[in-house]
Amino acid sequence: MKIGFIGAGNVTRTIGRHLITAGHSIVVSNSRGPETLADFVADLGPGAVAGTREQAAECDVVILATHWPKVPEALKGIDWRGRILIDATNAHMDPKPDISLAGVTRSRAALKAKGRTSSEIVAEMAVGARLVKSISNMPMAWIQDFSPNKPRSVIFTSGDDTEAKQQVIDLINSTGLVAIDLGSLATGGAMHEVGAPLSGVEFHFVRRLR
Ligand SMILES: NC(=O)c1ccc[n+]([C@@H]2O[C@H](COP(=O)([O-])OP(=O)(O)OC[C@H]3O[C@@H](n4cnc5c(N)ncnc54)[C@H](OP(=O)(O)O)[C@@H]3O)[C@@H](O)[C@H]2O)c1
Repeated sequence: MKIGFIGAGNVTRTIGRHLITAGHSIVVSNSRGPETLADFVADLGPGAVAGTREQAAECDVVILATHWPKVPEALKGIDWRGRILIDATNAHMDPKPDISLAGVTRSRAALKAKGRTSSEIVAEMAVGARLVKSISNMPMAWIQDFSPNKPRSVIFTSGDDTEAKQQVIDLINSTGLVAIDLGSLATGGAMHEVGAPLSGVEFHFVRRLR
């Protein structure tokens, strides 16, 4: 598959390498233009090319990997209808109460009061996207082994579009990492978004041989 990344940092470098190792190709974008990403894609090898956000958004699956305050700008101007979008962001909260930045509420208390998970907020911004929350539950430092014998680290996944979620699960599983479905954006997201019980906890999938 062809996977587009919006954001070109730690998440993109790590997940991009897992995807390329599994035979996928990736398009990487940032806010400053493809010409600023020559070294980044060269480091990832022939499976990676630099593009615009729009080119990344045209791929089979798109991964949003910017910091939380950048999310509105990163999603802006793209017609998301029908596109599979993985929200890999963590809504890192500001300890100060209720600061809104370009429509994104950064206060944990305010988010909870609204009764929505961070990916539900992203879904509202990416109108019409088939949004799946995934990749966000662990530091990338935990999945830096790209060898065939790497640990089968668990990546939690949630979403309201069952078919899109299954495609994301299949994509992650194709890399040797293991996707586990936690349900909808509301119920699953509440379990694996930042600050939730299943965020920042390391799980490995182990098959017991009899
Ligand atoms: N690092 C981890 O271990 C980890 C693990 C799980 C989840 N996460 C979450 O994943 C997200 C990304 O984390 P990261 O560590 O990869 O961050 P990072 O290394 O700082 O990379 C963020 C990238 O976003 C780009 N960006 C900023 N504004 C943009 C825009 N408007 N359009 C397109 N790209 C834009 C930045 O490039 P320019 O500024 O050049 O545009 C940069 O390449 C965060 O929400 C984080 O909480 C991180």
